Amino acid sequence: MKKFSDLYLKKLHIGSITTETNVFTAPMAGYTCYPFRMMCRKLGAGLAFTEMVSANGLKYNDRATAKLLYTDKAEFPKAVQLLGSVPSAFEFACKGDYTADYDIIDINMGCPVPNVIKSGEGCALTGDLSLASKIIESCKRSGKVVTVKFRPGMNKKNIVVSEFARMCENSGADMITVHGRTRNMMYSGEPVYEYIESAKRAVNIPVIANGGIRSEEDALKMMDRTGADGVMIARFGLENPFIFSQLTGTHTDETKLSLIMWQADIAEAVFDETEALEYIKKLSSYFMKGLHGTKKFKQEMYESGSMRELRKILALIFKETEKSDV
Ligand SMILES: Cc1cc2nc3c(=O)[nH]c(=O)nc-3n(C[C@H](O)[C@H](O)[C@H](O)COP(=O)(O)O)c2cc1C
Repeated sequence: MKKFSDLYLKKLHIGSITTETNVFTAPMAGYTCYPFRMMCRKLGAGLAFTEMVSANGLKYNDRATAKLLYTDKAEFPKAVQLLGSVPSAFEFACKGDYTADYDIIDINMGCPVPNVIKSGEGCALTGDLSLASKIIESCKRSGKVVTVKFRPGMNKKNIVVSEFARMCENSGADMITVHGRTRNMMYSGEPVYEYIESAKRAVNIPVIANGGIRSEEDALKMMDRTGADGVMIARFGLENPFIFSQLTGTHTDETKLSLIMWQADIAEAVFDETEALEYIKKLSSYFMKGLHGTKKFKQEMYESGSMRELRKILALIFKETEKSDV
């Protein structure tokens, strides 16, 4: 059986920053908070991105937005993702206090959500290369390492992947991530490897491949078919974060039970109880996906009103599943 860690694992140089591995955790709104990023990093992810944060929100000192950016020195390197369409707002956000701790600014040019597209943000920027270029240049003026995550285009009739990749490099981007689905495909369907391969052929900066990786086999196929420099995993990392230790050959004695309890510890330390409850319930329901015998606990888990209560039910859920997994 071929192994990712034998064939493709490497350190990656992104501008002035070197990551320990080339297996990354994707930005995910509502999930990739500090505890989750720390878990993925512990399991071998070389980099884990914050969820998208509005560049405008930071400009107007929005506290809720700023809260999404909690980090500390245990996380290195740190990567924050910004969303927006106004170059000056990006420049302000990159130079401001809220992002001061972050080493890498990632620009979201792939979000397919209707409201975002209507505002000319996210994937809409694949239709305006000149504005996209100005945004990258504005971020670069902060002196930070800048990366861009984008889709190949809005739909299969408007594929701009090669020219967009070149524009990113020419505007100063230090790495690009290509999600191999068009905006119309949203989050389903097989990623189109050829789009990612075209981006890789177009530029000399590192290219990360994203979309549809649910197993080591998928990751190998992605690397074989695209020639990318690394992979980025989103949804499957929520379900089974051990994909990071598997791909990177990182030894771990953790179990889902020990991980969820550790996540609860960090969440309680950095969030208030309501936020901690919300996050741990969301993550647990992903952890429970595909595990037998957990359905009967779900309602009780959602109804837990305190972290103490929640921990008790989680101990039952994940002890049961570990037994039934053997
Ligand atoms: C719940 C959720 C939230 C997401 N939030 C973001 C985000 O904030 N920024 C971003 O660039 N992509 C976001 N994405 C897209 C993922 O980063 C990724 O590109 C996509 O899910 C494809 O990867 P996958 O097939 O491994 O899930 C999100 C995806 C999901 C499922």
